[in-house]
Amino acid sequence: MSKGKFYITTPIYYPSDKLHIGHTYCTVATDTIARYKRMCGYDVMFLTGTDEHGQKIEEKAKEAQVTPQQFVDNIVEGPKGVKDLWKLMNISNDRFIRTTDDYHVESIQRIFKKMYDNGDIYKGAYKGMYCTPCESFWTESQLVDGKCPDCGRPVRYAEEEAYFFKLSKYAKPVQDLLETGTFLEPASRVNEMINNFIKPGLEDLCVSRTSFKWGIPVDFDPGHVVYVWVDALFNYATGMGYLNDRYDDYDHYWPADVHMVGKEIVRFHSIIWPAMLMSVGEPMPKKVFGHGWLLLDGGKMSKSKGNVVDPYLLAERYGTDALRYFLMREFPLGSDGNFSNEALISRINTDLANDFGNLLSRTVSMVEKYFDGKLIADRESDPLDDDLVGMASSLRDRYENEMDHFGTQAAATEVFKVLSRANKYVDETAPWVLARDPEKKPRLATVLYNLLEALRICVVLLQPYMPDTCVKAFEQIGAPEAVRTWESASEFGALPADVAVVKGDTLFPRIDMEKELEELENLNNPAPAAEPVLPDVTIDDFAKCDMRVVKVLSCEAVKKSKKLLKFSLDDGSGTPRQILSGIAAFYKPEDLVGKTLVAILNLPNRKMMGQDSCGMLLSAVKEENGEEKLHLLMLDDAIPAGYRLC
Ligand code: MSP
Repeated sequence: MSKGKFYITTPIYYPSDKLHIGHTYCTVATDTIARYKRMCGYDVMFLTGTDEHGQKIEEKAKEAQVTPQQFVDNIVEGPKGVKDLWKLMNISNDRFIRTTDDYHVESIQRIFKKMYDNGDIYKGAYKGMYCTPCESFWTESQLVDGKCPDCGRPVRYAEEEAYFFKLSKYAKPVQDLLETGTFLEPASRVNEMINNFIKPGLEDLCVSRTSFKWGIPVDFDPGHVVYVWVDALFNYATGMGYLNDRYDDYDHYWPADVHMVGKEIVRFHSIIWPAMLMSVGEPMPKKVFGHGWLLLDGGKMSKSKGNVVDPYLLAERYGTDALRYFLMREFPLGSDGNFSNEALISRINTDLANDFGNLLSRTVSMVEKYFDGKLIADRESDPLDDDLVGMASSLRDRYENEMDHFGTQAAATEVFKVLSRANKYVDETAPWVLARDPEKKPRLATVLYNLLEALRICVVLLQPYMPDTCVKAFEQIGAPEAVRTWESASEFGALPADVAVVKGDTLFPRIDMEKELEELENLNNPAPAAEPVLPDVTIDDFAKCDMRVVKVLSCEAVKKSKKLLKFSLDDGSGTPRQILSGIAAFYKPEDLVGKTLVAILNLPNRKMMGQDSCGMLLSAVKEENGEEKLHLLMLDDAIPAGYRLC
């Protein structure tokens, strides 16, 4: 019998770059809660997906010289893409929505029209400061030092004809909702929303764009595309079939029980989202949980800062379950946490290899050694057992209490307290001493039974964290299906008294910290691969390549491109030569003026971002922290412009 429905979501991810460990953290947290609820007997619906529209994607696709659809398809469905990563991380989502899916597009058009028809969307002109990477308009008062308050990047003045959503109309009901105290968690985020956004006055929200095309068209006003956040937020409803025929369980699952979101997008979920739902007359989600960020060296991970950690590398090296466990055990969900390789390896060694893995393997080995693998335990109790038995019997309650309040870290900690207690119990009872005395065999059987039983209860409760490992552990313990359940976790003694263990592989091998850290360092900064030398060319062929010394007369960033710098170069001919080079991420234009570089002049001219590039600057590529860095070839300034390299 189901305990009722439980609908949980993750944010839908921007497929503008490959996902990193920060995104993985959010999805693993949601998955852990979804698995927990399923284990408890809820009818769980877990939705995740990708948010594929917007100017940023359009620009990235242009730079990559593919269509926006090809661009997102590759990151979502392609090798090591979003779907592959969730498979690798053993994410148990029931559905995956892409905002480019036809049914979603149709629903959004209907939703937009519905809000327009009921008078909540009107046409106006937008004038304001816009952050392109975040696709957000900001008021002057919201800017921090004149920059985007979310990402800290520069904003630009933008003005365009646009549709507006009457967000201001919903300020009061949204504030009331926030003040219910259960809608938004952790509670600290409620004041932040009210004081920073509602109290200063909610302005109407610009909900359409005309300056780019990659979005869902407003069907009654071609030229406008729907603002990406309107398109994205409604995924939670369209993914269940709201205003479309693709799914028909909206009535069953809506309202969502939990939207898990990162703290920087709490504003969208706890203010804009409820207001839009009020506008279309749908019930409010029950909860928005704003989790903290995984930081690296104290800063938020982001590709543009070059400080991302590759979840593929970590999962492939240490195993999916170890990584999942680390993410959930190391950091409390509501706060920020600092990621480090040392912390990860140390968790694996201390908790997983030692406290858990070693206890399991020692216990199973002793059952094999002293009882040929099969126990007959009469379970006569001894005061020495009370503490362990008591702690293990009441573990489920403590765990449930934490899990029901997003205490994924605290719940795992409770489990490991019992495992530590069990380790201590091994020392206290000294089974190897009992084994020497044949009369103590019944007592020895009880001790080993208690250990197996404490382990079993812990393994039941660790399933949401480490699903695959728990199956292996159950097999070694010899726990039948019936005692792998939530119900059985509060019942010390549910394991059959004649349990038969099955010795298996070590669950988590210990890692040599020092050696491993060194290897990781090398993996992140590999020595240049000894690439094979290309086949010979003749000296005549080489001479066809017109490589010259050039001096940088001026250099500037190409508008709307994050990659390109535009150079005006003295090539010795007396006429400046224009070359575009994709090195904006590695150099400041002003630092290059006056430098002596090398260019190939006789390559066919190319157009990039609408501008001519007549030749190519020579550079070397170096891998640093998994990313390519370009280093321009620079020469002694004494060499005059126009000299040929030979
Ligand atoms: N597309 C929007 C969400 C729309 S939901 C209707 C978006 N996408 S995102 O890909 O940029 O981020 C997805 C989630 O990953 C966010 O909740 C964000 O907070 C989370 N994280 C991204 N980097 C993170 C860390 N370093 N640490 C923890 N979570 C982080 O926002």
